Amino acid sequence: MNTASLQSASTLPAHLAGEMRSNHAGETGAVWIYKGVLAISRDAEIRAFAEHHLVTEQTHLDFFENWLTSRQKSLLLPLWRVSGFVLGSVSALGGRHWVYASIEAVETFVVKHYESQYAALNAYGDVELTAAIHQFCNDEADHRDEAGGAAHARSSLLKVWCWVVGFGSEQAVKVARRV
Ligand SMILES: [Fe+2]
Ligand SMILES: [Fe+2]
Repeated sequence: MNTASLQSASTLPAHLAGEMRSNHAGETGAVWIYKGVLAISRDAEIRAFAEHHLVTEQTHLDFFENWLTSRQKSLLLPLWRVSGFVLGSVSALGGRHWVYASIEAVETFVVKHYESQYAALNAYGDVELTAAIHQFCNDEADHRDEAGGAAHARSSLLKVWCWVVGFGSEQAVKVARRV
């Protein structure tokens, strides 16, 4: 998605700048989740799933990467990369259903996260930015539904892991809004 027609990111109010920092951090994590999956999994179905999603996540990341100023980006990007990679690789070690269930857990959180920004985006009034965030949110909802439709057979351990993934995503966003 092109960022040329957006208002400069330096005009963002502090609250929205924090939200966009957390979006950039989250999309960084998303790209690295799939890198983690691809580093471990030899399952052709999972590799195709991860490669396909990685392309979309990279377009989301590029958008924030190109648009935000370097001072608006999280100082903790190495942490978000490592966290994403660990999440993806641990999921892949668990096998196909762990990957699907983990992606469903992450994307369930991400959809709510993007939706929580709609009111502030409307108030800010950059139509192009609002459209981009809606598009990303729809992509994440597709990822959530695709993974959820494929995920079966959830053990208790997997349920605990999914809770950790959802809780961890929530905490990471809280930190990335600020730092
Ligand atoms: Fe994304
Ligand atoms: Fe996604």
